[in-house]
Amino acid sequence: MDDLKRQAAARAVEQVRDGMKLGLGTGSTAKHFVELLGERVRTGLSVVGVPTSEATRADAERCGVPLTTLDAVDRLDLTVDGADEIDPQLALIKGGGGALLREKIVAAASDRMIVIADETKWVEALGRFPLPIEVIPFGLGATRRAIAAACAENGVSGEMVMRKAGNGHAFVTDGGHWIIDAHLGRIPDAPRLALSLNAIPGVVEHGLFIGLASTAVLAGPRGIRIVERPSRRD
Ligand code: A5P
Repeated sequence: MDDLKRQAAARAVEQVRDGMKLGLGTGSTAKHFVELLGERVRTGLSVVGVPTSEATRADAERCGVPLTTLDAVDRLDLTVDGADEIDPQLALIKGGGGALLREKIVAAASDRMIVIADETKWVEALGRFPLPIEVIPFGLGATRRAIAAACAENGVSGEMVMRKAGNGHAFVTDGGHWIIDAHLGRIPDAPRLALSLNAIPGVVEHGLFIGLASTAVLAGPRGIRIVERPSRRD
């Protein structure tokens, strides 16, 4: 599986051009991308990256990838990141690693997002992977009830599990927030659920990435499949 992730990352590195400003994703697949990018930087490629987590910042520094911030640059040319699930519209569930907030800010500031994954991440409908919802600790009970109501309005329900760190305490994101993992099973209308969750004050962000990924690079035992986001019919 790790080899497939690296193959997907290698294909994405081929899209990087000299002078690009890049969003650097988080997770085991994105880590391969950062390592392979570092190899190209060492042979003369000139790029700057914005990391989507403290973990990726450390990886990029270790690999010699120059870093910048979204305050110092206007837009990013390209973000390359992994995903927990990818559907045929290239809607994603992200946040299994807890970095969804910075990942979404960086993806939204990019002209293009390539999502890289092994092919097991491809699904017909999102939701089997628990949806990460990043919340403010204050007022958690009210926020949980509002999330459950938003889910019910969208025809989904399931267990809401507070994510725990290894020490048994709440998992704390890079932004100092907590994560609820919503076990929804199947989300019939992910764009609509995304809008409902956006409207809840205690929700900082959620792991539904709608209309952000432009290309998916999926690596499987029989090779690599490239999927472009279907154009909207409206
Ligand atoms: C990090 O918060 C996530 O969004 C990851 O991008 C996602 O969980 C995919 O991770 P892997 O590449 O490790 O499967």
